Amino acid sequence: MSDIRLDNITAAAVASFDGVPDARRRELLQQLVQHLHAYAKATRLTHDEWRAALAFLHRAGDISSANRSEFSLLSDVLGLSSLVDLLASTPGATPGSVLGPFHTVGSPWCENPADLTRDNPGEVVLLRGRVHGPQGQPLSDATLDFWQNAANGLYWQMDDSQPPDNLRCQLKVDAAGRFAIRTIRPQPYQIPTDGPAWHDVVPSAGRSAWRPAHYHLIVQAPAHRTLVTELFDAADPYLASDAVFGVRAALVRRYETTPDADVPVMDIDIVLAAA
Ligand code: BEZ
Ligand code: FE
Repeated sequence: MSDIRLDNITAAAVASFDGVPDARRRELLQQLVQHLHAYAKATRLTHDEWRAALAFLHRAGDISSANRSEFSLLSDVLGLSSLVDLLASTPGATPGSVLGPFHTVGSPWCENPADLTRDNPGEVVLLRGRVHGPQGQPLSDATLDFWQNAANGLYWQMDDSQPPDNLRCQLKVDAAGRFAIRTIRPQPYQIPTDGPAWHDVVPSAGRSAWRPAHYHLIVQAPAHRTLVTELFDAADPYLASDAVFGVRAALVRRYETTPDADVPVMDIDIVLAAA
């Protein structure tokens, strides 16, 4: 007969996962139990609060679909997504930042330099840079997957007025690791606030739902760690209050006027860590 009490329930629940064969999976499960129990004990969690939390998770599941993950948004607004990005970042390499919900696999390949401006309204700008390894060597085999929002703040998936794949592309860097994308200056926008991740969790804190204007990039090169990151506009008013904690000083860049370009230029050196 067992006698489960307040002073032994955590140890019992942790030990119940001792038989998980994979050591990492066992650690993840046992630490989860430890920390959930510690949270309930520290807050003296009540039945009403526990039921409310379960109902919240049900609502998050109900609103989720193939095109929307409310759990991912919850992770974003709690800072968990950004924490995982920071844990995976390598000192000396360009830091990672949130993937967000608007990446789609298989964007069209375009020439390098690329021109994504097409019929888009807004300020034309040039994003250009160089991809290199930790010793400064150009990574001539690197590829970029790029996406951003339009001048109205919307990604093409949210906006019927934009053609599919608007303001996104994949490209190969040149032999010196360089790339250039002529595009429209992205704009700040609000993360979705119509679901439980936002309206059941955040508003009482008086937080803003705005994200500062940014480009999204996934940079890959053989024998190097894939980088999922963002580049932010130094002039943006929401840099200090990003709703999902994605801003890092190394990712904030100014648009400059330079004699070699007819539009404002944002320059970035991207450093990939060795695999
Ligand atoms: C985005 O960058 O597009 C984004 C990130 C997190 C939540 C919502 C949107
Ligand atoms: Fe975004």
